[in-house]
Amino acid sequence: MIKPDAVGAGNTGAIIKMIEEAGFKIVAMKKTYMSKERAGQFYAVHKERPFYQDLTNYMSSGPIVPMILEKDNAVEDFRKLIGATNPQDAAEGTIRKLFAKSIEANAIHGSDSDENAEIEGRFFFADVEKF
Ligand code: PPS
Repeated sequence: MIKPDAVGAGNTGAIIKMIEEAGFKIVAMKKTYMSKERAGQFYAVHKERPFYQDLTNYMSSGPIVPMILEKDNAVEDFRKLIGATNPQDAAEGTIRKLFAKSIEANAIHGSDSDENAEIEGRFFFADVEKF
């Protein structure tokens, strides 16, 4: 999911280009928006963490671009492509190093397991939207 900071800064196209050049197939994609309530549901796993309110306010502050991606070893390879959560720790050439502004406005989210990728994909897309 491309986050509001990167969408707002006009970096959607550049990020999609990097994702495709890294060998990911885009199975589904859209530009959409999460209400504060929907953002709260998406990040429910973090609801006890101190940054939960900030994170859900931020994630409902503008449009986002969720995608379902497919590739061998996709979760691990995508996390390498996006870089560390905090852009200060992200490796050179990663999406977050290039485009993230802060640990909150960090340009992009990637699922942390195949199981969560399935859940998060279903959060945004119906089966008929996938190909
Ligand atoms: S992890 O791997 O899920 O444990 O990563 P983590 O570092 O815990 O971060 C989880 C998501 O929370 C966001 N985050 C924050 N938002 C606002 N303020 C602070 N301080 C903060 N710290 C972490 C971070 O961007 C992660 O978002 P996603 O979308 O999952 O990458």
